[in-house]
Amino acid sequence: MKVLYTIKDIKEELAKVRSENKTVGLVPTMGALHKGHISLVAKAKTQCDVVVVSVFVNPIQFNNQHDLETYPRTLDEDVEKLRNADCDIVFAPTVEEMYPTQPTEKYSFGILEAVMEGIRRPGHFSGVAVVVRRLFDIVEPNKAFFGEKDFQQLAIIKNLVQQLNYGIEIVPCPIIRADDGLALSSRNTRLSSENRAKAPKIHATLARAAEELMRTMSVADVKKWVMDVFAEDPAFEPEYFEIVEDLTLQPVADWNAANGIVGCIAVWMDDVRLIDIIRFK
Ligand code: PAF
Repeated sequence: MKVLYTIKDIKEELAKVRSENKTVGLVPTMGALHKGHISLVAKAKTQCDVVVVSVFVNPIQFNNQHDLETYPRTLDEDVEKLRNADCDIVFAPTVEEMYPTQPTEKYSFGILEAVMEGIRRPGHFSGVAVVVRRLFDIVEPNKAFFGEKDFQQLAIIKNLVQQLNYGIEIVPCPIIRADDGLALSSRNTRLSSENRAKAPKIHATLARAAEELMRTMSVADVKKWVMDVFAEDPAFEPEYFEIVEDLTLQPVADWNAANGIVGCIAVWMDDVRLIDIIRFK
């Protein structure tokens, strides 16, 4: 496995790979790798000859300075984990390497960003799009792999590829959960031990809504029930819970309104913001 830090080095390495007619899979990450990331790497290796994992904490997608400053940075451990996974090349650029000048480009995603994370984190998805496009331009992957936990991000990146008319296949990968149900996230390491013990309630609540309550309750009542569960527990501060069509991300009014329906939640536990999703159908 090679660990490369500059655009020049990775482009040279990938030119060799392409001259051998090998396919390239990209797994973009911000590091602090966990089993969820490793599952993306494993999936990428089943579909591509060479797997590139980028590790870059992208400052321009953070709209909260505290979140950026406290985001875990663990490159040495990440590299060790990737050595034991199916990664061929790690690309770990500095901020100066990725952004020699302050990026000025902006991306818009219409209705896809007019909901959920898009309205609560202004500029976030444009910042994601800037870095993902740069990574696509540097790595020129055949396929790129993204986790479904960031459900809105996945829809935005599919849209970005369409906007740019890039021939990159975006491969969605299922959420990996801890044994107690908590969706794996790099931010979980920032939870206090008390909050970590309570956090599985997020998935348990959503699972009950999807497995049981949707049979007898309206969409509006399920939404209210979920928000109430968290509002009544002082450990949680729910930010939103939306029940949306899976392609357009627009809220649905009833269970027959779309073929695919997903519930998306954001909850604060102290200063840690957790997101999760559940598929209703
Ligand atoms: O999902 C993430 O970790 C980031 O948003 C991504 C896609 C690596 C871009 O920085």
